[in-house]
Formats: sequence, structure tokens, C-alpha cells
Amino acid sequence: MENCGMKESRPAFTGLGGLSPQELFGELPTPCYILDDAMLLRNGEILAGVAERTGCKILLAQKAFSNYSLYPVLAPYLAGTEASGLYEARLGREEMPGKEVHVFCGAYRADEFEELLEYADHIVFNSPRQLERFGPLARDAGKSIGLRINPECSTQEGHAIYDPCAPGSRLGTTRTQWDAGITPQLLALLDGLHFHTLCEQDADALDVTLRAVEERFGDVLPKMKWLNFGGGHHITRPGYDIPRLERCVNAAQEKWDVQVYLEPGEACALNAGYLAARVLDVLQNGEIQIAILDASAACHMPDVLEMPYRPPLYGAGKPEALPHAFRLGGPTCLAGDIIGDYSFAAPLREGDLLLFGDMAIYTTCKNNTFNGMPLPDIFVLHDSGKLQRLRTFGYADFKQRLG
Ligand SMILES: Cc1ncc(COP(=O)(O)O)c(C=O)c1O
Repeated sequence: MENCGMKESRPAFTGLGGLSPQELFGELPTPCYILDDAMLLRNGEILAGVAERTGCKILLAQKAFSNYSLYPVLAPYLAGTEASGLYEARLGREEMPGKEVHVFCGAYRADEFEELLEYADHIVFNSPRQLERFGPLARDAGKSIGLRINPECSTQEGHAIYDPCAPGSRLGTTRTQWDAGITPQLLALLDGLHFHTLCEQDADALDVTLRAVEERFGDVLPKMKWLNFGGGHHITRPGYDIPRLERCVNAAQEKWDVQVYLEPGEACALNAGYLAARVLDVLQNGEIQIAILDASAACHMPDVLEMPYRPPLYGAGKPEALPHAFRLGGPTCLAGDIIGDYSFAAPLREGDLLLFGDMAIYTTCKNNTFNGMPLPDIFVLHDSGKLQRLRTFGYADFKQRLG
């Protein structure tokens, strides 16, 4: 079983092709994100292989990566997008045209539902009540309708906020809730079931989960057209057990005669981006050497604090590995705006360029301007080595949300 915080085994800097951050990105303004075209494409190829060999369909979960300018890189390899609500559904419809749009939302709003029907192909409800309320509208609009189930099978430890199977979870319908709420009329509305229970996990956890799904919902599944395995499958991570995933997909498709969908977010854009930052100040407090960067964990890589995890950093090691240990922090007022403890071959100095890896996922779509921090510009590193500026941000982006 994998742990949600274990990010360091990834080859986060493969995309640099042996060049140093200074050589590649030395001229860029910091902080900035750099999305790596070639690494995205490589992820797409791996995912397409799974889809081709099994017949499953793979969607991009946009909550993890929604830099739509790069959707054309992924689109040839994917069946479409997954959205968490109205805006992501619209983005998927607009920016990956001709592909499927699937939506799951914890609860839909009456004032948005009509518009959602314009964008979505599959609509997944979270509860029997939401299915009852909105299912008939979705059916009349010709949509494929699903219900998210909760197989009550936790396969991860220590990250309760990422465990939709934790006791008392609001996500997904348990068998008890199903038995209390699903009438024959509601069952007749359903085309498929959906579960999402994993986080950065391997196929062994999926295997265990599928057994729980079968135990609780095995009687219902033969009545369904599709089964969506959700996200959290770390398929593009080196060492991920792809054959085992494919056995899981094949077994479900054969046993229940369903179309299987996977909707990974991380796996689509894993190790396909960087955050470049510079050292603004170096201080010492007691034993601890500290470097304050122009990038903030709280603003620019919020999952570092939320998950939490220690992002990969080019040329740096664990605190004891190299002679010079530094605690890296952001410039905000938050005492806990700490990126992590690292060690370096040489002491850090003002102006040094640092490059964090695996920064395409849950970053640009999750960042914020807390403390009036500027949003980092976004660049694309093309296969040719050429850098393209995708977006710059300024004071207006901070101000316009506030009044
Ligand atoms: C319903 C659903 N699908 C897909 C995903 C994508 O997960 P990941 O980025 O871990 O693959 C999530 C993540 O929270 C989710 O909640």
C-alpha cells in the first residue's frame, strides 16, 4: 500500500534531459511554473496503452490539472475529461472538444443543473436523494446517469482527508444508504456506478477495493452499463503495477459486462511540471539554517501543507544527505509556510535558483494570492527545448477577486 506523502521516488527531473535548471530556466522570472510538454505526452502514451489493451476508457480529472492550453497534448490519448462541477464541465466541453465529459459533484445546485446538462455526457450523483431530484431531468436530456458508491474499504492510512471511505464520510452511497433510499424507480434511472477511494495508490489497493465493491454491490453491477473506478491510480509512476491494473479492469468488464472508466488526475500530469524559485534571504535561528524563497508553500504549492508532502527539489537531498542543511520557507506571514527541510552540496545564497519537481498537479489549479502574493507566471517547455510563456499575472489578478 502506498502512502499519499511518498512523492520522492519519482524521477521528477527526467524532463530536463540532463540540463541544469540554470541552463534551462536561468532567464525566467521567478516564481514561475513550467509545464513539460514531452512528459505530458509520455504520460498520455502510458495511459493510452492501458486503454488499448483493456478497452477501458480513461478521462483526465481536471481538478488535478486544468491547464487547458495543453489539453491538445493529452487529448489523443484520452476518452475525455472528468469535472467536479459546472466550470470544469464547461472547460472540458470547450477545450477537449468531441470527447466525453463526466461530472461528479457532492451535491448539484438547481440553479446550475440546466446549464450543466449542456456540457455533460455522464452525470454521477452522490446520494439517492440527489438522484431522485435531478435524475429525471438528466434522463430527459439523454444523459448517462450514475451513482457514486462507497464500498467502505479504506486502503490508506494517515491521510483521513483523502479517504472517502473513512467512517461518517459524506462521499458515496453505502450499501445501507442504498438499501434505505434506492427504489426500483431510482434503480431504473441508473446506467452506471462510480467509486473513488484511492490516493496515489498502486493496483493492489484497487484489487482490494474491487473485492469490497463486489461484496457490497455485486448484485447490482450486472444491471449496469458502466463502472467508473475513479482516480488515485498512480499509473504513470515508475514501478506501478500496470498488468495488475489491467487484470482488474478486464475482470470487472468480463464479470459484470460493464464499460470500465478510470479518471486519474495525478497520473495524467505526473512529473510534468516544475516550480522555479529564487532565494530571497538566508537566516540562522539556533541550529537551523533557513532560506526564504520567493515561492510560498501556502500560495503556490498548497498540497505541500494540505497533504502534506515534501516536494522533490533538483540537486538537493534529505536533511542529512549533503553537507549544508536548510529549511525552505515562503515569504508569507504564515509561520507554517514551510516547504521542507533539504540539504545541499554548497550553502544557499541570495539569488540562487531552485527547481521543485512534480509541480503540474494540484498547483496552478489550486494556487492563491494570500498575503497579496503574485501568482507565478506559467511557461511551457516544448520538446524542442523552446520555452513559451503561457500566462503572466499581475496586480489585477489579485485585486479583481476582492471587490
Ligand atoms: C471523484 C474523483 N475522481 C478523480 C479524482 C482524481 O484523483 P487523482 O488526481 O488522485 O488521480 C479525484 C480526486 O480527488 C476525485 O475526487
